[in-house]
Amino acid sequence: MTTHIKSKNIRLKSRVHQVGQLVGNTPLYPITKAYSKKGVQIYAKLEWQQLGSSVKSRPAFNIIKQAVYDGKLDNNKHLLDATSGNTGIAYASIGAALGIPVTLCLPENASEGRKTILKSLGANLIFTSRFESTDGAQLKAKELFAERPDKYYYADQYANDSNWKAHYETTAPEIWAGTYGKITHFVAGLGTTGTFMGTSRGLKAYKNDIEVVALQPDNPMHGLEGWKHLETAIVPKIYDNQLADGFLEIDTLQAYEMVKTIAQTEGLLVSPSAAANLQGAIQLAKSIDEGVIVTTFADDASKYAEVLQHIF
Ligand SMILES: Cc1ncc(COP(=O)(O)O)c(C=O)c1O
Repeated sequence: MTTHIKSKNIRLKSRVHQVGQLVGNTPLYPITKAYSKKGVQIYAKLEWQQLGSSVKSRPAFNIIKQAVYDGKLDNNKHLLDATSGNTGIAYASIGAALGIPVTLCLPENASEGRKTILKSLGANLIFTSRFESTDGAQLKAKELFAERPDKYYYADQYANDSNWKAHYETTAPEIWAGTYGKITHFVAGLGTTGTFMGTSRGLKAYKNDIEVVALQPDNPMHGLEGWKHLETAIVPKIYDNQLADGFLEIDTLQAYEMVKTIAQTEGLLVSPSAAANLQGAIQLAKSIDEGVIVTTFADDASKYAEVLQHIF
């Protein structure tokens, strides 16, 4: 390795460290108006309050950091992945900050707002059939990587351990510290499953009897962007179906109603998936006498104008 390349990589690693300051450390906010029950407290982690404005900043940053440190990614390779939106925005933001080109495969029916954000951040976009949803985007990314392994670093968020480990190493310790170790239940929906897997494992490492409950849309044709209906979708490699202590199903229309409730009682205008997480936390709260339930609000509603028009 020449001195020139070596010093470039040191500069890139030091920039990675700087950008890392904008990832994680989100507020843990008590929900008191949208729902309350004596003896039970629900907290939501407001995950849009970081770089890229969503929970996916954590895995995207960890995936990129690990690849840079492993020598698999640098300023001359494209980071490649399939993403329905939030991970893409996180990759594109971090890629822009680090001078790493980003190529993303996404279904053609992703919202215009998302496409504009991704293009504005300088990402190269490859559109796949709307009828194959994120599964089609995954297959396309695999195909591109097989054709040009020299050009791309294929991040593969569905199979990359740096995804769930980001939550193990950051989300779980933040929740543990934020509740002073009083958390009794963790609840989250499943997309790539990184949030649920990593946070649950991290919390159980602190205290094994913390109960972790996974949320699923109640049917394949749901409107909870970011979530997967695992019985009918490609199951992510990082998913372990033995980890959850329980499962709850969420109805899309009830989640949309919950968007309205959270907005008009807590003053937080959140995404449908965030509202669905609170819906799950409330279902759980109704079934227990006491406890501290924590969930995540993956993002706010700023990217969901089309959905909001139906809700309000
Ligand atoms: C809005 C939204 N909610 C929930 C999730 C699910 O998170 P995870 O992929 O960690 O399971 C995602 C993932 O992309 C998302 O974008």
